[in-house]
Amino acid sequence: MVNISLMIEEEIKSVSAFISELNQNEHSHIGYCGKDSVEIANSMIEDITDIPYNKSFLTAYEHDELIGVLGFDADLEGNCAEIWGPFIKENKWDIVTSMWKEMSELIPDKISSISLFPNKKNNRVVKLANDLSFNKHSEQTILDFSRTRKSEIEDVSIVELSEVYFRDMIRLHDDNFPHTYISGKQIIDRRNEFRKVFIIENNNDLCGYIYVEAEPAYGEASIEFFAVKETERGKGIGRQLLLAALSWLFTINNIKSIRLCVNSNNQKAINLYKKVGFQHLHDLCFFTKEL
Ligand SMILES: CC(C)(COP(=O)(O)OP(=O)(O)OC[C@H]1O[C@@H](n2cnc3c(N)ncnc32)[C@H](O)[C@@H]1OP(=O)(O)O)[C@@H](O)C(=O)NCCC(=O)NCCS
Repeated sequence: MVNISLMIEEEIKSVSAFISELNQNEHSHIGYCGKDSVEIANSMIEDITDIPYNKSFLTAYEHDELIGVLGFDADLEGNCAEIWGPFIKENKWDIVTSMWKEMSELIPDKISSISLFPNKKNNRVVKLANDLSFNKHSEQTILDFSRTRKSEIEDVSIVELSEVYFRDMIRLHDDNFPHTYISGKQIIDRRNEFRKVFIIENNNDLCGYIYVEAEPAYGEASIEFFAVKETERGKGIGRQLLLAALSWLFTINNIKSIRLCVNSNNQKAINLYKKVGFQHLHDLCFFTKEL
């Protein structure tokens, strides 16, 4: 007998450990949440706020054993939600239909678009996305640069974005990433001690920028956005920006690795990341569905 119900506060630890365990394996990995159970727990409490986890996440138990977790992270302003999961024990996949149905009933009418982000090798969730008529939006490649290889980073000069270049940076970002979740202006507003934009300019002309975020509490950092003006490409500016970003991020003691997510079709950028020393971690499929 399987018991599916809304998640409660007392389950945070066991649910995070459960997701963490499944996320270690590419065949059950979902891209929205990491692999570290403490980080997953904190994300559930701190990031899933528009509709808290106790109204958006379901757990499934067989006898006293946790066998499934499925929920969503709603963005009520953006009218969309990211589906976390389904995380289901390998031999218990038959509960997915009931879990999905119950979760769907929790999604408010205001949400008009939902997305799934399984690892490309997570065949069951990829098949579920197809069966539920999700559209495959893109494939994303995740690359990683580990601190153990810090000595390979060449010395380069690092220049932070200053107000003089705000307008050019906003234009460069918005032209290159018109459909992304964050605008150039929002990036500028987000900057702080651990979120920085570095630039390369030539004769007061902005050639390129890179936006990075560090989360020292979790030992992680990421390259979020990175673009070079079209007329300036192929001159090594992208490489310089990446090296500057890596150098600065590794000045923060706790950072163990630097991640990035890039469209798998963007071979030019992937080649550059690999040349600089990033290593391929895994590929994810981004699916969306209009409700
Ligand atoms: C990806 C991107 C940032 C690269 O910037 P870039 O300044 O052209 O990068 P680089 O010049 O350092 O390297 C690009 C290529 O030029 C080559 N190159 C570097 N210096 C060079 C030089 N002096 N002369 C000729 N070629 C050179 C590099 O070897 C590299 O070759 P490869 O494609 O065979 O690997 C740029 O193409 C871009 O803005 N793209 C759109 C936005 C984007 O896709 N961003 C990344 C995803 S977030």
